[in-house]
Amino acid sequence: MGTFSGRRVLLVGTGGIGAAVALRLAAEGSRVFGTYRSDHDGAAALGARLPAGSWAGSARLDAADPASVDDVAGPGGSAGAALGGIDTLVVTTGHRHPLEILAKTDPAVIQDIVRTELVGPMLLVRAVLPEMVEAGFGRIVLVGSDSGKAGTLGDAASSSARAGLHGLARAVARETARTDVTINVVSPGPTDTGLLAGMLAADGLTGKVMAGTLRAVPKGRAARPEEVAAAIAHLASAEAGFTTGQVLSVSGGLTM
Ligand SMILES: NC(=O)c1ccc[n+]([C@@H]2O[C@H](COP(=O)([O-])OP(=O)(O)OC[C@H]3O[C@@H](n4cnc5c(N)ncnc54)[C@H](OP(=O)(O)O)[C@@H]3O)[C@@H](O)[C@H]2O)c1
Repeated sequence: MGTFSGRRVLLVGTGGIGAAVALRLAAEGSRVFGTYRSDHDGAAALGARLPAGSWAGSARLDAADPASVDDVAGPGGSAGAALGGIDTLVVTTGHRHPLEILAKTDPAVIQDIVRTELVGPMLLVRAVLPEMVEAGFGRIVLVGSDSGKAGTLGDAASSSARAGLHGLARAVARETARTDVTINVVSPGPTDTGLLAGMLAADGLTGKVMAGTLRAVPKGRAARPEEVAAAIAHLASAEAGFTTGQVLSVSGGLTM
């Protein structure tokens, strides 16, 4: 029996950081329902790595599509049905567009990034909140980025969306303050996942900016996904009930 025994987690995004979250929370007793947008096989492989009985299944969810959010996370949705309700939401959605200065960024790309990283998380919070408030308990952790504090060259839409998550968490923290429902943001810096590897290997602005960002980390290395998952696990734990509306950087001191 772990700290998360009996907990029912909807994990949106089962990529590098999402996988570490699933492994950590399942090891401590959670049941986890995971979502993917394109990587069905990755989600299935993650499920197979979790302790027996802790994987409640997976579904495709596109955070940019309100109907898709409702189908999975809304009342009567597939996640709640598989888990027997949702008391924990962790959102890890992030874009994979190349970095580009704003004047050269296609408006459709801007829309996609803001939907994926801000509107989608907002719709997900909206979908799960009534059940948590009614139950009097819930934990929401939104994974953002230190770009929301510092701004990243060539990533204006994403930096804006991440800063928007801070406002979302603070506003919803006020809505839910008289219950044991909390909402917080974890902001990673460079973290050792396929996303970072792809960006470091990319041509043009993307590779240059990421290499520069990595060099600027005071601790001198990227985070391990497990280090980000540890912060998420703390904020998702029952004992973190007095911490809400906060933004926690897990970035080796990149922003302070
Ligand atoms: N790794 C880093 O260096 C770093 C640094 C700062 C912040 N972050 C942020 O931390 C989060 C997780 O990063 P990661 O490294 O684990 O990246 P990742 O492996 O690319 O994970 C991103 C996840 O988001 C999902 N996703 C993307 N668009 C979506 C959408 N519209 N609807 C639903 N799901 C969507 C992806 O699903 P599919 O793969 O199925 O499409 C994937 O599971 C992201 O927000 C990322 O920007 C990462």
